[in-house]
Amino acid sequence: LTKETYPSTARNQAFARLSSDDIGEFKKILSDKNVLTDATDLEFFNEDWMRKYRGESKCVLKPQTTQQVSQILKYCNEKKIAVVPQGGNTGLVGGSVPVFDEVVLSLANMNKIRSFDNVSGIFKLDAGVILEIADQYLAEQGYIFPLDLGAKGSCHVGGNVACNAGGLRLLRYGSLHGSVLGLEVVLADGTIVDSMHSLRKDNTGYDTKQLFIGSEGTLGVITGVSILCPARPRFTNIAFLGLESYEAVQHCFTQAKNELGEILSAFEFMDEDSQDLARKFIKQTHPLEETYPFYVLIETSGSNKEHDDAKLETFLETSMENGIVSDGTVAQDEAQLKTLWYWREGVSEASTIGGGVYKYDVSIPLKDLYGLVEAARERLEEANLIGETDDFPVLRVLGYGHVGDGNLHLNVAVRRYTKEVEKCLEPFVYEWISEHHGSISAEHGLGFQKKNYIGYTKTENEIKLIKQLKNLYDPNGILNPYKYV
Ligand code: FAD
Ligand code: MLT
Ligand code: ZN
Repeated sequence: LTKETYPSTARNQAFARLSSDDIGEFKKILSDKNVLTDATDLEFFNEDWMRKYRGESKCVLKPQTTQQVSQILKYCNEKKIAVVPQGGNTGLVGGSVPVFDEVVLSLANMNKIRSFDNVSGIFKLDAGVILEIADQYLAEQGYIFPLDLGAKGSCHVGGNVACNAGGLRLLRYGSLHGSVLGLEVVLADGTIVDSMHSLRKDNTGYDTKQLFIGSEGTLGVITGVSILCPARPRFTNIAFLGLESYEAVQHCFTQAKNELGEILSAFEFMDEDSQDLARKFIKQTHPLEETYPFYVLIETSGSNKEHDDAKLETFLETSMENGIVSDGTVAQDEAQLKTLWYWREGVSEASTIGGGVYKYDVSIPLKDLYGLVEAARERLEEANLIGETDDFPVLRVLGYGHVGDGNLHLNVAVRRYTKEVEKCLEPFVYEWISEHHGSISAEHGLGFQKKNYIGYTKTENEIKLIKQLKNLYDPNGILNPYKYV
């Protein structure tokens, strides 16, 4: 989107414009090399992953210690300089990039593992550690990070906590609200709040860390994370299945829960449109010979190979016999396991193949979940916005996601971002979700994209509380302004 197609927002003139004195102060706090002001160096930090939102920041700060973060924020708060905390910049709601000239505070240089207790599984690390690196470290100790997602190679654990990412294994390990045991956070005025606990249970009053989980950089900057990690399952199986209807997907889920029980670790679904784009992007032979309206990826993780294999086999036999599943394949080795996962994880990137994508990450009660994809497709067709040639802005409407968590990803893959498409989809999509008792954000957050739509899910009094908390923690509003608060 260019500034013209952004929702109307004006720069808040209460925020100071950055001066050369400010840059000088930043260089005193950090070393020169960690204060970026060169236009080419700034490009990555100003543009989001979807190439949809672009800011105009003139300065990126890369602190290496919590003390430095504290000094920067204290200075910015006093001078009323707006700040955008940024992790790996893989967020999908335009929350991680500036809207105007806010300073970007990148956590990329805060990337140390602090400690790991291999009896309790409690892991403490800097916020800027890349998720995949954290998980590789744990793998060597026989443990696993309780979160996994397609952006693992670039996103930070601090960024994951800041947006309360859900991902591919929430079904098994639950939300970060449960697994995060403590945080180290720097408030807008520079105060360091250290709650890096190693305790599974702690009932001493308000659980203040919970406020920062999912706060998307609006309440404080997360600098450290303490998280409970489970033992790494020793055996994993993947089945990739073809199904004839969304009805069958739901039956398959019930049956998977019943028959695979405690070893079920992921239940993901994809429609044919999403796999068709994935075929164009991945350019390899699809795991299934025939095409199906729906596909399901099931992962099992357990500790006894024979036991796990037998359970999966029985599940597959029964679901084929009773007609729920029409076709399927099971990974035979580690390489096939990764390949099958890629046909699901790769859909995110495949969705951008035409040039852009409108992403709607939503929760809807399971029975109605796919109805939103059908409704959006129909609406775009009626408006004559979707077609096979360049005359049409919309290339494809896809539905996929973490169906086991009631989480749909409706993606509208486009050749260009246009106001016409946006107007056709918004607020229609949000109204549809509200009418079907869903949430306008399941796991990506609200960021800039959904700033005007929070009322479709939260009540007036909830929004009032959010604003009161924001005023309490960040009275000058310097942290991630123009976003959802
Ligand atoms: P950023 O994008 O840099 O920031 C995200 C938000 O958090 C911003 O508002 C930012 O201001 C704030 N923030 C970042 N770091 C901090 C910090 N240290 N302190 C305070 N605030 C901070 N999400 C899911 O939930 N599930 C998925 O399955 C999933 N799959 C994805 C697949 C792909 C290919 C991509 C590109 C994204 C996916 N996402 C998914 C989106 C997801 O939100 C991010 O990948 C990830 O959680 C964001 O981490 P990040 O470090 O990149 O944060
Ligand atoms: C995923 O689950 O793949 C991401 O959260 C979805 C996305 O890219 O929209
Ligand atoms: Zn997702």
